[in-house]
Amino acid sequence: MSYALPLLEIREIDEQHFKDEEAIFLAAGYPKPNEHIAEHARLVSELARLYQQVLDGGNVSETLLAIVREWLITHIGVEDMAFAVFKGLRPAMATQ
Ligand SMILES: [Fe+2]
Repeated sequence: MSYALPLLEIREIDEQHFKDEEAIFLAAGYPKPNEHIAEHARLVSELARLYQQVLDGGNVSETLLAIVREWLITHIGVEDMAFAVFKGLRPAMATQ
């Protein structure tokens, strides 16, 4: 199975999603957004690298799965959630 088209679509969707999210950060006065924005750029760069690997005939399935897993658990579950807490959209998690 070729991942070229799905990767291209994911990258395009992510780029627009990240631009929208970053605009919301700035409008909301989210403190220290640069690390979060850098993570977005890193993902877009990773997807571009994988896309090129697929075009070159490489198998990226395991790397893609690792990136998606990291993105769902770490980025959305921690970084995006921190912004949701900042905006009052989610309660802060209790710390031990
Ligand atoms: Fe994000």
